[in-house]
Amino acid sequence: DSELAEAGQKVFKKCAACHKVGEGAKNGTGPHLNATIGRAAGSVEGFKYSKAMADAAAEGLVWDEASLMSFLENPKGFLKGTKMSFAGLKKEEDRAAIVAYLSTLEP
Ligand code: HEM
Repeated sequence: DSELAEAGQKVFKKCAACHKVGEGAKNGTGPHLNATIGRAAGSVEGFKYSKAMADAAAEGLVWDEASLMSFLENPKGFLKGTKMSFAGLKKEEDRAAIVAYLSTLEP
């Protein structure tokens, strides 16, 4: 819902140093995050992923609500060897808000 997505936009400040979103978003420290939901992991063109992410992608990891909730809670726990240096979002409501926000982002 849109209130949750708005809350997610605020939480996204924690991600924005590394991830761009919106029209023309470029890759930076992390890949851009447009149209992440439903997309295969490790599939943003031009971004050099870790071997861990590439392996998970080859095994079929797709970003959906469940996988994002797990990854964002504890990135290095969910994906050992990921180069995303982020401690994670401990509050479930913050993770749910981020997923709602990401769901609003077009390709
Ligand atoms: C990867 C989300 C914070 C750096 C990813 C991916 C997602 C994501 C969904 C996988 C993208 C894909 O497969 O194309 C988020 C969210 C954040 C956050 C929602 C905040 C809550 C950060 C921060 C940094 C960062 C703060 C930098 C310090 C990266 C990097 C990758 C990545 C380098 C690639 C990981 C790899 O190849 O192993 N992030 N991120 N992220 N993120 Fe983040």
